[in-house]
Amino acid sequence: MIETIDLWFSYADREVLKGVNFRAKRGEVTVLMGKNGAGKTTLLLHLNGLLKPKKGEVILDGSKIEYNKKSLLELRKRVSIVFQNPDEQIIAPTVWQEVAFGPANAGIALEKVEEALKLVGLEGYEKRLCSQLSGGEKKRLSIADAIAMDPEFVILDEPTAGLDQLGFDAIVELIEKLRNAGKGIIIATHDFDLAKRVGDRFYYLEDGRIVYEGESLNFELARKIGIRTFGFGKLIISENEKIGSNFVVNLNGNAPNMEKIKKLLEAILKASEGHCVVVNFENGSLEKLKELLGETK
Ligand SMILES: Nc1ncnc2c1ncn2[C@@H]1O[C@H](COP(=O)(O)OP(=O)(O)O)[C@@H](O)[C@H]1O
Ligand SMILES: [Mg+2]
Repeated sequence: MIETIDLWFSYADREVLKGVNFRAKRGEVTVLMGKNGAGKTTLLLHLNGLLKPKKGEVILDGSKIEYNKKSLLELRKRVSIVFQNPDEQIIAPTVWQEVAFGPANAGIALEKVEEALKLVGLEGYEKRLCSQLSGGEKKRLSIADAIAMDPEFVILDEPTAGLDQLGFDAIVELIEKLRNAGKGIIIATHDFDLAKRVGDRFYYLEDGRIVYEGESLNFELARKIGIRTFGFGKLIISENEKIGSNFVVNLNGNAPNMEKIKKLLEAILKASEGHCVVVNFENGSLEKLKELLGETK
């Protein structure tokens, strides 16, 4: 487990973290949310020793991080960070050189490079120029950099920022693979879709303080403290695909009664609260609904 205890930090005289207690475990995805400027990136930078707290501690498996070279090297071997902007991270000309750079310096077997490229779906890209990759590919390359070091914790700062649906799906899949491999994953994100899809535990940071910690996303509070929740909550309509449905509506046979209408309203309400809800209209019930609505016009 990696944790912070009563962590305080300021840039010059601007106080940014104000007593943060945060923890993340292996085999779990811990999501840190907060509006722009809340201090998310600053907190992440403490977790692998890139910033030193003004007060408080960072603790990895019960051992306090000491801010000397040996302790920091050890920490960075075990906790890797992927920056928001891949261009800040990618330094080598080719894909292979880029991912091999860290392991070669740290004396880690180069098989890890191939493994990492495979995991992020960039096998076969070894000789390509990094500068010619797409945004999504660069993102995955920067993640390969981190996982080639075979860390126990992987930190991802806004991993889906600027990605399209395919890029998003690739990141979700990758995070799930890392979790299945037993890594601890820590994500700072604005993206409620991502948080909902992969998060096991959530923290909300507001103006340098943790204001929420829990195993479910709190939609109301998120909105209240200015976290963007647009796009969160979906009502998916399916027909005759009961598998995975939260609600099944059958309008055939007798007239739609209050029970059925209540079910539909409940589905809409759940979606409005931020859940992804699948409603299955059984046996032509969608057609039936259109008919009924037509009649009431
Ligand atoms: N290097 C820096 N020097 C001075 N102020 C900074 C620096 N980096 C971030 N800040 C300020 O610290 C606050 C928190 O920033 P950051 O941790 O990047 O927030 P977030 O990642 O939640 O958007 C912001 O007000 C930001 O302007
Ligand atoms: Mg940030």
